[in-house]
Amino acid sequence: MEISEKYAKELAKQERRKADLLDICESILLHSKRILFEPGCGHGHWLTNYAQANPKQVCVGIDLISHRIRKGKEKATKRKLDNIYFLKADLGEFLEVLPAHIRFDQTILLFPDPWPKARHHRRRMVQTTLLDSIAVRTDPGGTFCFRSDDRAYYDWTIEHLESHPLWKIDAGAKWPYESDTYFQNLMTEFSSVIARRTH
Ligand SMILES: C[S@@+](CC[C@H](N)C(=O)[O-])C[C@H]1O[C@@H](n2cnc3c(N)ncnc32)[C@H](O)[C@@H]1O
Repeated sequence: MEISEKYAKELAKQERRKADLLDICESILLHSKRILFEPGCGHGHWLTNYAQANPKQVCVGIDLISHRIRKGKEKATKRKLDNIYFLKADLGEFLEVLPAHIRFDQTILLFPDPWPKARHHRRRMVQTTLLDSIAVRTDPGGTFCFRSDDRAYYDWTIEHLESHPLWKIDAGAKWPYESDTYFQNLMTEFSSVIARRTH
């Protein structure tokens, strides 16, 4: 099947972006095997506070929006943190190119965009395919932590976790670290869930 010139250009751009991302991942994570991963990290409030309190844990935050990533980097530089990396990247592309030896100790998803309309649900970050990809990189016992102010998205996440064979909700698990995020500060109520990678 022939593809349009515009589509071919877009594909080429995507390939260049992924190649650049791979280079960055390989260089920054050369000596790291295990990370705490925060997709959609926004301005990096939570991750910088967590990284400062846990200097032995390598932390990686990604976000689509450049100025949010810049803010995160500025915070890390100001505090002289050497265990944290902020990357401008799309979640799907990041998971595709991340070197296979990198393992996730914890993945934390804080206040992801809720996409409330039914026709937009497929844009939500939490999907069976995402839970599959994270599970492959997480050892048994590792965690997926989710927090949202949007009740419908929280219920959606619970349903996806309950029906996934590689994740089990751990109702007794303690939230890894309490610290505000930009979006958490705007909310009066929110719900959290932690799931553990099964054996
Ligand atoms: C509502 S904000 C929450 C930010 C932060 N977690 C907080 O609590 O302050 C959602 C963030 O996810 C990012 N995001 C959405 N889709 C993404 C994707 N596919 N890959 C990476 N980041 C994404 C957005 O750019 C935005 O910064």
